[in-house]
Amino acid sequence: LSTTEVDLSPIAEGQIVTVQWRGKPIFISHRTAAEIKSAQDVPLSALPDPQPDSARVKPGKDQWLVLIGICTHLGCIPLGHQGPYNGWFCPCHGSVYDTSGRIRQGPAPLNLALPPYAFTTDTKIVIG
Ligand code: FES
Repeated sequence: LSTTEVDLSPIAEGQIVTVQWRGKPIFISHRTAAEIKSAQDVPLSALPDPQPDSARVKPGKDQWLVLIGICTHLGCIPLGHQGPYNGWFCPCHGSVYDTSGRIRQGPAPLNLALPPYAFTTDTKIVIG
């Protein structure tokens, strides 16, 4: 299947789930208000790959962050809710991502990538 449909309603606030899309892990993070705020409050000048949080979520859906779960350094799978920004931590060589999946420390050059996806209802997305 080239698309993956995901029902978001069972994903609790504060929870991250991993689904598969075209053989790739996709992280779906139901962000808390604190996680959203910490992502929004970061000045772009602090980011190696500057991108506002608003460009990484769908309009009006700040609580849902959907990422390709592959470290942009050499392709390991980062661990969620880890590291100094409580985002993701890659155990292979220590890259640290924030609650927007943006690279903050370590050798990875780029933010975690965003898959193509769209909301089909208020609580369902189709990836791909
Ligand atoms: Fe993630 Fe190297 S593959 S830090």
